[in-house]
Amino acid sequence: MKDFIYYQHCRHFPMLLDLPDKCGGIDRSSDVFLLLVVKSAPENYDRREILRRTWAEERQQNGEWIRRVFIVGTRGSGFERERLNMVLDLERGHYKDILQWDFVDTFQNLTLKQVLFFEWMERNCPKARFLFNGDDDVYVNTNNVVKYLQSLEDNDGSKHLFVGAHIVGMAPSRDSWSKYFVPFHVYKQNVFSPYCSGGGFFLSGYTASVIYNMSKSITLIPIDDAYFGLCLAKAGLSPSLHTGVKTFGMPFSSDRINTYDPCLYKELLVVHRFLSEKLYYMWHKVNDPNLECFGNFK
Ligand SMILES: *[C@@H]1O[C@H](CO)[C@@H](O)[C@H](O)[C@H]1NC(C)=O
Ligand SMILES: *[C@@H]1O[C@H](CO)[C@@H](O)[C@H](O)[C@H]1NC(C)=O
Repeated sequence: MKDFIYYQHCRHFPMLLDLPDKCGGIDRSSDVFLLLVVKSAPENYDRREILRRTWAEERQQNGEWIRRVFIVGTRGSGFERERLNMVLDLERGHYKDILQWDFVDTFQNLTLKQVLFFEWMERNCPKARFLFNGDDDVYVNTNNVVKYLQSLEDNDGSKHLFVGAHIVGMAPSRDSWSKYFVPFHVYKQNVFSPYCSGGGFFLSGYTASVIYNMSKSITLIPIDDAYFGLCLAKAGLSPSLHTGVKTFGMPFSSDRINTYDPCLYKELLVVHRFLSEKLYYMWHKVNDPNLECFGNFK
């Protein structure tokens, strides 16, 4: 926490890896329908690889372009730091999907990471229509997401949209041992403004721009998703609930049913937590045209 407070007001960190042409330039960036912005850590190479082969694959879906970036800081020191940075540089060369800044990638620095991303977006990809913002250990049915976003009345990203597993009335933790500890002098109110769980949520390009503009005058707090709630509240906007976003896990116990029955996941947008072979399995099963589901799974 001392570290957090020491750096709380620093927002300028050099970029180590940049992708200025990710969205094809400022004007062409409106061709990007869905930009996937995945929070990853340097050492999570395996997670990034599996996402590139499953839901985060860059492609045209239902006629709309999906693009992907991983946002990372740095980890380790000395040779370890050099090795991790080298791996990221190789990935960037190969996949063109790494944005890296020179700050220590910890939980408390996630808000900083997000704000640096929005600043990057304003500069390089301001007209992207919608964004998914989330963790590298979730399952996202990007095919359903595109359909859902296309079905919106205003589907060009120019109106407010911020949806996910919304959290209302959450109190900041005042326990210094907690991962979510927020000292009183860092955030004085005893409740956060409504926000959506940072595991994965969706927003429009418009709302991304609003959040970035508001963030300039709101001091960073160490809880990134709650911070977005503060930005939205300042702009007079609210987050909304989407019942297809299950970032708190699936609401059933594992001994009664097959927890990895693809029919349970077919209609959802986001589920936490999914890794490795389970993610690979689910992505392929759910998108199998021969998948038959009976009954009402909801
Ligand atoms: C955040 O990043 C800065 C810059 O690298 C680092 O000095 C600081 O320790 C980090 N903060 C935390 C809480 O990890
Ligand atoms: C955010 O600020 C920039 C620069 O002042 C402005 O051009 C843009 O329209 C603002 N965005 C929104 C959504 O108000």
